[in-house]
Amino acid sequence: MDLSTRFMKLSLPNPIIVSSSGLTADIDGVRKAVDAGAGAVVLKSLFEEDIAAGVERSRQNAVVSHPEAEAYMEQLGMLLEPDEYLTFVEDCAGSVDVPVIASLNCHSEKWWTDYAERIEKVGADAIELNLSPIALEQKISAADIENTLVSMVKLARKTVKLPLAVKIGQNYSALPHLVDRIRKAGADSLTLFNRYYKVDINIENIQFKSGNSLSAHEEFGPVLRWIGIISDLTELDISASTGVYNASDLIKVILAGGNAAQFCSVLYRDGMEVIPGVLEDLSAWMEKHEYSELSDFRSLLSLEDDKRNAFFQRLQYVKALKG
Ligand SMILES: Cc1cc2nc3c(=O)[nH]c(=O)nc-3n(C[C@H](O)[C@H](O)[C@H](O)COP(=O)(O)O)c2cc1C
Repeated sequence: MDLSTRFMKLSLPNPIIVSSSGLTADIDGVRKAVDAGAGAVVLKSLFEEDIAAGVERSRQNAVVSHPEAEAYMEQLGMLLEPDEYLTFVEDCAGSVDVPVIASLNCHSEKWWTDYAERIEKVGADAIELNLSPIALEQKISAADIENTLVSMVKLARKTVKLPLAVKIGQNYSALPHLVDRIRKAGADSLTLFNRYYKVDINIENIQFKSGNSLSAHEEFGPVLRWIGIISDLTELDISASTGVYNASDLIKVILAGGNAAQFCSVLYRDGMEVIPGVLEDLSAWMEKHEYSELSDFRSLLSLEDDKRNAFFQRLQYVKALKG
């Protein structure tokens, strides 16, 4: 059975990618993922705030002058030393034989481009840009947010030659249009979707607290729908992220036109041993259906005719209401 796939112009031995997270925040985690059979890994993100705080630290001789960003990142356990990140990328790239995708989390045009360049130099196979511009003021329109996002992709494309994936959230009203702009800006692939950090409130001490950091399996539905809608409209490779838990989900992603699926919460819950199980189940399913490679069934259920799709979706909605 040939499980190989293409994602971000890279050849992966299989379509399981371990997502950017604490699981891929150190070399041991990355090795464990690869030993379990992952086809690629996305390293824990270097956050723009890490870079900003690091730059300030060195500028001011260890005096913190970005206190808010730093306190926030420390609270999330996310603070990384940017230069350590580069060593980490280099070590990973040199020690595993599947693609190593570095990750940059950015929300402005400052700080990170220099690091994108340095990440390329230390041997990453690709970069996933985790882009999360958000509107916190009334004067910022949806178009402004999309323009910011697209200009960050353009900037990254200008800065590095590496394959670029763009990982975005799902709260966009006209995703096909935005995806086309992302492609024209120079991206090679999409990761649909990022799952933003969840915020909750403790009503006893009247403080913010962290919401559930792991996804529920039910969150997979919108991911599948959007991959089905987008995949036929774009040449970008697509990986799924959020709520992918098992081989059935992975098979559905490929049927809908995706190239790979990223696994995260299920690995936190059940460990890396999930990966060989998914690969085994995928092979067994392919054998049963007499498919010998992923391209035999990729896109069989993508939505080729978008008018038919709109009609179909409307029909299901009306049926669900009546039912
Ligand atoms: C503890 C934790 C840390 C994460 N850190 C990052 C990160 O640094 N960069 C990123 O792009 N996504 C990060 N994510 C999001 C995951 O990559 C993934 O997109 C999200 O968890 C949805 O996938 P899942 O349903 O399989 O968990 C993190 C997720 C978790 C649970």
